[in-house]
Amino acid sequence: MSDDIKKGLLGIVVDETEVSKVMPEINSLTYRGYAAQDLCEYCRFEEVAYLILNKDLPNTIQLRKFEKEEKNNRDLSKDLYSIIKKMPKKSHPMDVARTAVSIMGLEDKETTDSSEEANMRKAIRILAKTPTALAAFYRIRKGKNIIKPKKNLNIAENFFYMCFGKVPQKEIVKAFDVSLILYAEHSFNVSTFTARTITSSLSDIHGAITGAIASLKGPLHGGANEEVMHMMNKIKSPNNALKWINNALDKKEVVMGFGHRVYKSGDSRVPTMKHYMFKVAKLLNKDKYPKMYEILENEMLSKKNIHPNVDFPCGPTYYMMGIDIDFYTPIFVMSRITGWSAHIMEQHASNKLIRPLSKYKGEEVREVMLLNQR
Ligand code: CMC
Repeated sequence: MSDDIKKGLLGIVVDETEVSKVMPEINSLTYRGYAAQDLCEYCRFEEVAYLILNKDLPNTIQLRKFEKEEKNNRDLSKDLYSIIKKMPKKSHPMDVARTAVSIMGLEDKETTDSSEEANMRKAIRILAKTPTALAAFYRIRKGKNIIKPKKNLNIAENFFYMCFGKVPQKEIVKAFDVSLILYAEHSFNVSTFTARTITSSLSDIHGAITGAIASLKGPLHGGANEEVMHMMNKIKSPNNALKWINNALDKKEVVMGFGHRVYKSGDSRVPTMKHYMFKVAKLLNKDKYPKMYEILENEMLSKKNIHPNVDFPCGPTYYMMGIDIDFYTPIFVMSRITGWSAHIMEQHASNKLIRPLSKYKGEEVREVMLLNQR
């Protein structure tokens, strides 16, 4: 392949952004200038969602107003509940999320208005409704009744409540909330770039987020957190981890939850998420997962010099919380809606149609033969 082709857009800077800064050289990630790990320590996901969308952290009044709007928009239309009830029970919840957001676009009274003000309102509605749609499917496919959202709970608590009918202890909610903060934004990753590409044709926010969800589903992107847990379940016990990983490496298999296009010496989100994963394991007396984590991490580092990415600690954290594996990437969606929306608004504010070139390598010009002569 010739040098002028940058397959996978490797190393190409395609635009500017104010939303987040990924700094692989110092293992750091900032959202609007604030270090993600500091946001995890001092803020709730709602404050970070506000920050990403509104460019600064909220004061008490601003946060109250933002949360009120989010809570008031959580419930779904009767039609959307009944469509979710009719979806095949075996559907992947990512496809449910994708379809639900698409239908929200059909129902939204401002679908065709892509002004910044309308996009902000729509972003909050999508942020509010998507967990409700997912939790409804969580219950429906188990043959259980839908639990409607509760306004006195925050986003993390409410998701547990809608899925399980109760809110777990505060340490579990905090670990979940931290995962939402860490998943909220990460510059020009595949799904965000998808959202920006769709937006660049001046399409609407529901369409851009629908496309972004499809893009996040893949195992090389968001889908990795589910694959990590399938892998750990296959490994079964820490005693088997070393043998399993060496066998996978001998067969040149891709080990899920490791490696990153941008971070080559460690994902800045991992230390924080690992800390919370280990905390959850201690609280729930499940030391098997931290043990397995350490063995796999050490072996990948010593044999391949490849570090874990954020999906590696997230997978087992959600598993220990009792969440169905195929809901891990949808949880990523619930959070990344904020980052996608901010990028969509940024793209609208300074748009240029995204239209790269390709080098043709197919047949040269050929003469069309009539059907009866071919
Ligand atoms: N397991 C084994 N080998 C790996 C892995 C891995 N997870 N990641 C990279 N490598 C090897 C790869 O085989 C290649 O080796 P060689 O040069 O001998 O062919 C080398 O490292 C470079 O990898 P690459 O695939 O060319 O690098 P990339 O920047 O194109 O890929 C990646 C990045 C994330 C797609 C890749 O690391 C991967 O497939 N990881 C597993 C999937 C995963 O965990 N994805 C989540 C990404 S982070 C969170 C998110 O975005 O959702």
